[in-house]
Amino acid sequence: MCDLKHQTAKIRSEIDGAIAEAIESSAFIKGAKVAEFEKNAAEYIGTKHCISVGNGTDALYIALMMLNLAPGSEVITPSFTFVATAEAILRAGLKPVFVDISDSTFNIDVQTFEAAITKDTKAAIIVHLFGQSAEMDSIMKVAKKHSIEIIEDFCQSFGAECEIEGKTKKAGSIGRIGCTSFFPSKNLGCFGDGGAIFTDDDTIADNARAFANHGMRVKYTYDSVGINSRLDAMQAGILNVKIKHVDSYLECRRNAASTYRRMLADVDGIIIPTEQEGCRHTYNQFTIRVKDGRRDELKSYLEEKGIPSMIYYPYPIHQQKAYLESPHRIADKLSNTEMLCKEVLSLPMHTELDEKIIQTITSTIKEFFK
Ligand SMILES: Cc1ncc(COP(=O)(O)O)c(C=O)c1O
Repeated sequence: MCDLKHQTAKIRSEIDGAIAEAIESSAFIKGAKVAEFEKNAAEYIGTKHCISVGNGTDALYIALMMLNLAPGSEVITPSFTFVATAEAILRAGLKPVFVDISDSTFNIDVQTFEAAITKDTKAAIIVHLFGQSAEMDSIMKVAKKHSIEIIEDFCQSFGAECEIEGKTKKAGSIGRIGCTSFFPSKNLGCFGDGGAIFTDDDTIADNARAFANHGMRVKYTYDSVGINSRLDAMQAGILNVKIKHVDSYLECRRNAASTYRRMLADVDGIIIPTEQEGCRHTYNQFTIRVKDGRRDELKSYLEEKGIPSMIYYPYPIHQQKAYLESPHRIADKLSNTEMLCKEVLSLPMHTELDEKIIQTITSTIKEFFK
């Protein structure tokens, strides 16, 4: 599904240099390398601040804590996402409200989003799924109209772009706070866990930085209760190397996607992913829809031929045991969510795919439908 070995081999000497530097400095937690990465990442995303944290899940939790919402406040989010999105809402003592998604982009549907807003709705976590930004232009207008705070979950979409009032902006720089993950398979991945929070808001940035470091601003002085969630210097060193290559990585993903598109264009029985106008899709995943209830059959067929594929996501979060029993609200029927869980299949997608590999994958898919 993801070939990190060959990606790393191409930059191995730079990576080795960064790791050696971290060992030499012995400054493993915080320090200059972490500050350098935060500066690089904020510049890339286009926000005033970047606060690095331990992982994307913590980034979402910390972002929610920074909004100071009353316990039990409603936070709208899709049910078709990685579980961390909803988990962070409950962990922050808030109530997830699940809404449906568009069946063409897999992202939150703007009409159902607006329809789900009540007097208790205080925020929304908008997920930019599979590498493509949600319709942020319309979402921000709805949020402004109803005075709702927007947190962007761009864990799968580092580098994705969309148009806001005629201007191109990066996902993660549009809402009040953007949250991302540097999990190894992400668009910008480190060699372990990592994540970050992005914002233009000075107060949120200052509070988030303290919160992620035990609530500490001055050494051994605690004005508030926090947690321990930090990116370590070794990972920051690796990310400083990889962020210089991220645009070329995104280009590789986009090229692989257009090869898939070309080779799968005439296959009946599947729907290839839609690229929304004005958005730069970054293809963290290339996810097709398999019609007529044949998804699992196709997956097994590919597996028999030695081709991996994954189902992101087989079950909607609102139907998971932990979430059935937790306080939540299901805003509408979520019929697209439930349908897509039965249809989606993600094909191998990474920076090292070439025409030959994609040819093998797509001709096997064609063989299946013959
Ligand atoms: C949409 C989404 N949100 C949140 C996360 C959580 O990130 P992490 O694994 O770094 O905690 C992920 C990572 O898989 C994700 O894909």
